[in-house]
Amino acid sequence: MAKHTNYTAKSADSSGFIGYSAKEHSVWSDLFNQQEANIQHYAANEYLYGLEKLAMPSDRIPQCSEISQRLKPLTGWTVAPVPALISFGRFFKTLSEKTFPAASFIRNRADFDYIKEPDIFHEIFGHTPLLTDPSFANFSETIGKIGLQVKPADYSWLIRLYWFTIEFGLIKQNGIYKALGSGLNSSPTELIYSIDSPVPERREFNVIDILRTPYRIDIHQPIYYVIDEIDDLLQVAERDLLSDIKKAQSLGLYEMTYEPSQTTELTA
Ligand SMILES: [Fe+2]
Repeated sequence: MAKHTNYTAKSADSSGFIGYSAKEHSVWSDLFNQQEANIQHYAANEYLYGLEKLAMPSDRIPQCSEISQRLKPLTGWTVAPVPALISFGRFFKTLSEKTFPAASFIRNRADFDYIKEPDIFHEIFGHTPLLTDPSFANFSETIGKIGLQVKPADYSWLIRLYWFTIEFGLIKQNGIYKALGSGLNSSPTELIYSIDSPVPERREFNVIDILRTPYRIDIHQPIYYVIDEIDDLLQVAERDLLSDIKKAQSLGLYEMTYEPSQTTELTA
């Protein structure tokens, strides 16, 4: 959902099938193989269980329908291809319907390590494994439902909660930081940085603090929020998030800890 993209969405044929070139499949394959080695060390257990359950191919880009067939019996979620850019309104609506909107293009080699806009590797490899987890899936659905109640002018407040959990959340497992968010698990460089680097700040999870924390989409995150267990997200889903947003607004945004850019405050 970045505002600017150099990529074009792939169109499906009359049977819903999206074709990819051998070159595009090879980008998926190389990304998959590189990440597979790293996630064993850096990713949260729930992510790894989910990846195993979905059994996605390593040598070609899967169709959303293949992933949906395995995902739906587990949590009721499906994945559906969407244009490269969709509005926040459409984004929240699809989440509220337990459908994950997936960009269909794949990054080119120049963007291999990092891409601002979400591509299909990010969407499928990054997002769908955690949607096999009931707590995570419930939290994702709640973000969508709350999004339908938030005024468009306030979308950015709710998106910060999405950003610091679903995209870039960390979790502490057996005293060790692990990557939960899809932006980490699908990034060859940020996955390692988020766990090993002494540079970023790792903050205790707090909904109001998260709502007040600005971010940039085009740098490795300077701040990560850490949950203690996946069920913490269930408790967040039960909160009155509309009141939380009002409270955060009354307290105001925290100061940026980075240089601003034109792409600040968009989502991936
Ligand atoms: Fe994403």
